[in-house]
Amino acid sequence: MDTINIFFYLFLCVLTFLILRATTAIHLRRRKTQLPPGTLGLPFVGETLQLICAYKTENPEPFIDDRVSKYGNIFTTHVFGEPTVFSADPETNRFILQNEGRLFESSYPASIQNLLGRHSLLLMRGTLHKRMHSLTMSFANSSILKDHLLADIDRLVRLNLDSWTARVLLMEEAKKITFNLTVKQLMSFDPCEWTENLMKEYMLVIEGFFTIPLPFFSSTYRKAIQARRKVAEALGLVVRERRKEREGGEQKNDMLEALFEGDGVEGGGFSDEEIVDFMLALLVAGYETTSTIMTLAVKFLTETPHALSHLKEEHEEIRLRKGEVKSLLWEDYKSMPFTQCVVNETLRIANIISGVFRRAMTDISIKGYTIPKGWKVFASFRAVHLDHEHFKDARTFDPWRWQSNTGLISSSNVFTPFGGGPRRCPGYELARVELSVFLHHLVTRFIWAPAEPDKLVFFPTTRMQKRYPMIVQHRSLFDLCKK
Ligand code: HEM
Ligand SMILES: *[C@@H]1O[C@H](CO)[C@@H](O)[C@H](O)[C@H]1NC(C)=O
Ligand SMILES: *[C@@H]1O[C@H](CO)[C@@H](O)[C@H](O)[C@H]1NC(C)=O
Ligand SMILES: *[C@@H]1O[C@H](CO)[C@@H](O)[C@H](O)[C@H]1NC(C)=O
Repeated sequence: MDTINIFFYLFLCVLTFLILRATTAIHLRRRKTQLPPGTLGLPFVGETLQLICAYKTENPEPFIDDRVSKYGNIFTTHVFGEPTVFSADPETNRFILQNEGRLFESSYPASIQNLLGRHSLLLMRGTLHKRMHSLTMSFANSSILKDHLLADIDRLVRLNLDSWTARVLLMEEAKKITFNLTVKQLMSFDPCEWTENLMKEYMLVIEGFFTIPLPFFSSTYRKAIQARRKVAEALGLVVRERRKEREGGEQKNDMLEALFEGDGVEGGGFSDEEIVDFMLALLVAGYETTSTIMTLAVKFLTETPHALSHLKEEHEEIRLRKGEVKSLLWEDYKSMPFTQCVVNETLRIANIISGVFRRAMTDISIKGYTIPKGWKVFASFRAVHLDHEHFKDARTFDPWRWQSNTGLISSSNVFTPFGGGPRRCPGYELARVELSVFLHHLVTRFIWAPAEPDKLVFFPTTRMQKRYPMIVQHRSLFDLCKK
């Protein structure tokens, strides 16, 4: 053997050794961090395009159904620029929600963070989040709703319906109602020119949230950032005015007052900037969600006439008992059992928030898989709400399923329209009351029909493409009775 051959031989030995070691290492790593099965799709875009295409149609279910049948309830995909573990499993979803702040944390893209503001509740972490979350809960809990908020909700819903003419865009009206209500609840302003101007700027901000692709190059996004500055300035002015009034001894009963009384980060009060970011978070979180659920409840009822007539009976009974003009009271709200079924069923089938993104704070083992630290996770509520294993005829609008509980196959933890754990929606009861009061006045004062065919889509948000145009006609229960 000459020296060259010896070197070649040695080289081969080393190479074999290295390859063997590398492959065993890969095997070990695989075994230690077994990812849920799935495909990552194309480089960079992954399966984002498939997801968007599916959610732009009226039936996005195949995107999830196909993957669940191929890989099971937990699978790996690659959407919006990152590999993501997708959960269609209620137990896993619950685990994700309950371990917020310990194993998982919510995460938003930088573009969204800029629109929300540094001190937004949605971006807060740890003890400050806990404190602010419970402050928000106490602002919209059932005793506050009963004693204060219900009267305003009733009044502002009526006021809005008063302005309805022959043809309305339901989604637009619902947005006006929710915006005016939130402004009232936050800082005691009744609808006026000031609120109208605020709403115009605010709508530009909202548009910014839904320009997901390349936000920094898009003019919609740039306009949104500008509008955010204007909205923040307007709110900041209100905060300063109110501080002055407080010094003069004047007090109001609203969220702003609660914020003045609250303790900030270091025990002192909140700064104006913190208060403004906080109010914006509430405006953002309650606006699209509540107005969309109002619109979709009407859509589903219109398409399910026997449910609509059942609902009408319930509300006519209340109205006939009370007379034409009396406002709804808490007892009235509590005597709408079928309405509550309609509310749940609309939330279940519409899935305004189809699920939540989280990031794994450490390697996490679940159901025999490992989710690596830093990975994104999506807990899909939609997949669970529309699963035939959990709801009978899961994809049909059937409010009666909530009445007898016969249409609910397994009852606990499968219905999470408002999320769960430390970030559970603090507006869950408020949204229910607003929708119920809206339905009450709508069905007792109007009959309606869709003005033209419209389409429900789910991307970038759940919405009716044409904002649900409808032809409305006044009706009066009381004229009928007099005849
Ligand atoms: C039908 C209407 C609504 C739906 C479906 C809904 C749904 C949700 C969901 C699923 C979450 C959890 C997000 C997460 O875990 O990351 C959430 C959070 C939140 N919601 Fe709602 N929501 C609705 C109405 C409202 C209203 C009216 C308000 C106003 C008070 C509100 C305020 C909030 C806030 C401030 C958060 C953030 C909580 C936190 O991060 O601690 N929501 N909402
Ligand atoms: C609701 O919040 C208020 C404070 O805003 C508190 O005094 C009250 O006890 C709470 N009620 C319930 C039912 O949690
Ligand atoms: C609510 O707000 C909108 C827009 O700011 C405004 O046009 C409308 O008249 C307000 N009032 C009601 C009762 O909806
Ligand atoms: C609606 O869903 C909630 C859970 O979010 C549940 O507590 C309530 O009992 C349901 N309502 C009806 C009428 O079944």
